[in-house]
Amino acid sequence: MLTKSDDPTPIEARAGGPLRGKVRVPGDKSISHRALILGALAVGETRISGLLEGEDVLNTAKSMRALGARVERRGDFAWVVQGVGVSGFAQPGVPLDFGNSGTGCRLVMGAVAGCPIAAVFDGDASLRSRPMRRVLDPLELMGARVTAGGDGGRLPLTLTGARDPVPVVYRTPVPSAQIKSAVLLAGLAAPGVTTVIEQEASRDHTELMLKHFGAEIVVNPEGPFGRRIALTGQAELHGVEIIVPADPSSAAFPLVAALIVGGSDIMLNDVMTNPLRTGLFKTLREMGASIEEIEARSDTGEPMAQLRVRASRLHGVEVPPERAPSMIDEYLVLAVAASFAEGTTVMHGLKELRVKESDRLEATAAMLRVNGVAVEISGDDLIVQGGGHVPGGGLVTTHMDHRIAMSALVMGLASDRPVKVDDAGFIATSFPNFIPMMRSLGAELS
Ligand code: S3P
Repeated sequence: MLTKSDDPTPIEARAGGPLRGKVRVPGDKSISHRALILGALAVGETRISGLLEGEDVLNTAKSMRALGARVERRGDFAWVVQGVGVSGFAQPGVPLDFGNSGTGCRLVMGAVAGCPIAAVFDGDASLRSRPMRRVLDPLELMGARVTAGGDGGRLPLTLTGARDPVPVVYRTPVPSAQIKSAVLLAGLAAPGVTTVIEQEASRDHTELMLKHFGAEIVVNPEGPFGRRIALTGQAELHGVEIIVPADPSSAAFPLVAALIVGGSDIMLNDVMTNPLRTGLFKTLREMGASIEEIEARSDTGEPMAQLRVRASRLHGVEVPPERAPSMIDEYLVLAVAASFAEGTTVMHGLKELRVKESDRLEATAAMLRVNGVAVEISGDDLIVQGGGHVPGGGLVTTHMDHRIAMSALVMGLASDRPVKVDDAGFIATSFPNFIPMMRSLGAELS
């Protein structure tokens, strides 16, 4: 596992008074990446407001520029993209560097696979260690070629797009919105219908946004939990307006903090509540959390609401494996909540956590253990013994993973002794103002 960046920023969190106030966490990361990529593949102008200006998304913006789109920042979180049209990407003169971002990298691989150009894909040490075969396999079936980089399974690598991409019917081997999206983005350039079948539905932002840009896309249920998505290729996408709602995966951090810090009562504005993203909220409610949805609306193309969160007594629960895709990025912070709960929480089916920004299954267990929480990994399950309080006092290794850093700091806000993280620098990939925003709610971070 990765341990350090060149210039680590250690931070410590300690218990203080209740958290109070109203905040809007930054724009949704998944939607921000997709807005830039589809904007670049559309004809005409796409105006985006509320874009997440985190490092991951900024790297996607840079890659869209390198591929020939005009991408301009017009004000705070307000961006305009002049697209080049489907199949219109130009050969980039520089390697595309996605930094820490698996989503940016894998989605752009899909978009490039449908264009007759070659591009070098690269990233930081964390991204270089992550599997790319899962995306390259279907893209090769569609006619793309991987022409560098060992077995082609790790970055850096060169991807040559297909001159005449072939539509496919592809069954994703694991529930992954990144794999699904890569195939659909490549399918935009193919003649005929590209179909993706997933056994368990993963986040559907690509499908919703493709429709918004004018593509013909039909989604049907497949089995008890899955979906069949059929996209008609050689689509003409036209520029649109996109409002990015607040990211539920970022909202998860102040939300869990408010639940575990006694007396807290906070409001989270404009949080996206797409059911394929809200498994954490559902699970926390089952644990006894007070999370109230106020002013639900969907004027952004995605459902969203204001959330009122009050400190709550939590109890352990069993989290079923089929819920994993709807909360795949939230298990770290759920494990923090489970540590403060009374009783045992069992989280089933967490295999995919092993291939995120770090091995999050091991890293979560280590984060809890070093802070005195009894935790066990059994196969793909994580078992946390909650004791109603957490001793704390640990130094948590972040492994270049933003969500480990934020989860550990949330833990420290309610533990008996402070919790320190070795490097909070990676928080900037998804939630650049995390520290000041948490401080504005009353959190003690220094
Ligand atoms: C994402 C999909 C998920 C998630 C990631 C964002 C997306 O990854 O972990 O943070 O925007 O499509 P997988 O699709 O690989 O599970």
